[in-house]
Amino acid sequence: MSYQVRTKVNMMTFKSTFANNSIHIDASLVESHLSDAQINSLQGEIDKAAQTLHGKTGPGSDFLGWLEPAMIIPNEELARIKETAGHLRGKTDFLVVIGIGGSYLGARACYEALRKPGSAYCLKYAGINMSADYHTDLIESLKDARFAINVISKSGTTTEPAIAFMAFREKLEWRIGHDNAQSLIVATTDAKKGALRRLADAEGWTSFIIPDDVGGRFSVLTPVGLFPLAYAGVDIDALLNGATDCAKYCKEKTFRKNPARLYTAIRYLLYKKGLSIELLASFEPRLAQLVEWWKQLAGESEGKNGRGLFPAGAIFSRDLHSLGQWIQDGPRILFETFLSIMGGEPSLKVPDINDPTADDGLSYLVGRELSDINRVACDATRAAHAQGGCPNLEVSVPVMDAYNLGALIYFFEYAIALTGYLLQVNPFDQPGVEIYKRNMFKLLGKPAEDNAK
Ligand code: PA5
Repeated sequence: MSYQVRTKVNMMTFKSTFANNSIHIDASLVESHLSDAQINSLQGEIDKAAQTLHGKTGPGSDFLGWLEPAMIIPNEELARIKETAGHLRGKTDFLVVIGIGGSYLGARACYEALRKPGSAYCLKYAGINMSADYHTDLIESLKDARFAINVISKSGTTTEPAIAFMAFREKLEWRIGHDNAQSLIVATTDAKKGALRRLADAEGWTSFIIPDDVGGRFSVLTPVGLFPLAYAGVDIDALLNGATDCAKYCKEKTFRKNPARLYTAIRYLLYKKGLSIELLASFEPRLAQLVEWWKQLAGESEGKNGRGLFPAGAIFSRDLHSLGQWIQDGPRILFETFLSIMGGEPSLKVPDINDPTADDGLSYLVGRELSDINRVACDATRAAHAQGGCPNLEVSVPVMDAYNLGALIYFFEYAIALTGYLLQVNPFDQPGVEIYKRNMFKLLGKPAEDNAK
């Protein structure tokens, strides 16, 4: 029999759910730091930030294409994505996704969150670093495999994917010849600008366009994420539908009916109280890459002009045995957001294999579902951390499927864009990322006129 132990819930504190039940927030364990009145008092500021966002009057307003997911991609283009992906899937066993930052994190996050337990991995990732070791290993793992390449870069000039693309293109062409390789290369890039666009046009590769008005970290629901996900068999229509529905509910002002605005209010108020680190924690390892995607989304959008929450991630219960002590008892500068899946997990019961005469102290677990034990561990952890002075909230979906994941993606994009406006920064640029590149180009001897690319 399934059982659940829930933490004490003070009915005065916030819970919030979209009317389509895709995302639910339990904010009962922030009560030691925030009262309902304090949360409610932010309503006016949140409404103003939302007006700035929807009215397209704030900094970075040229990059709001993601705000209406139903409009991002024309139906014919969606059909072409599915058809090209299906065709390549029939001819190959792996797709090497070459891109970095916003050009790969979203696809990986969705793929891993939705992958059926036990199914073989069909996406590989190159150009996410410049490690010879990593790429040698990857090339070796594909030595005898049938693979296609999807090179993704909005600017078309980013060094990491550019190097990896040269390496994988060379391997593919060496193995099957230049002409045969053409049909196994798909480029996703700007409509007009950049070296990758020029190359794709010159070589005649199939290509998809990254809309001008969508920045890298907001681009998972464009061909950037949708093509590799379609290759992997993800229901990209459901993903888009989830995001589209979420967008509709995000316009709602009331916190109780709009978890995205409630989440924004809580994280912003906790930040103002000196809790400047947000740890996104999950008890599901398959959400580890979603946590990575969120880290980029939050970090690059908010961290500027000396402001912004530091986004950190953890997978529990593994990290309770490494970070747990610090969270429970270290400096009180952190709050947690738990990302949970409430149902639909496979059944795996603790078996009864022990000799009843040998008292191993584990018999109380026998016959119980692992998913229930994991849930209890989450509840127990939330309560313990709250008692230790680490407020936490829980963002949950009823089951992890493409629809709810699409909603979750939009939920975070919306909340982080709003937080950016509350912090009075431009949530859609990332000027700080350029500095390391300039230094690196100088040290590598790149011709000076190209150093800014
Ligand atoms: O969010 C962003 O804009 C960045 O993280 C980019 O996605 C990343 O730098 C990769 O850039 P590009 O797609 O131009 O190669």
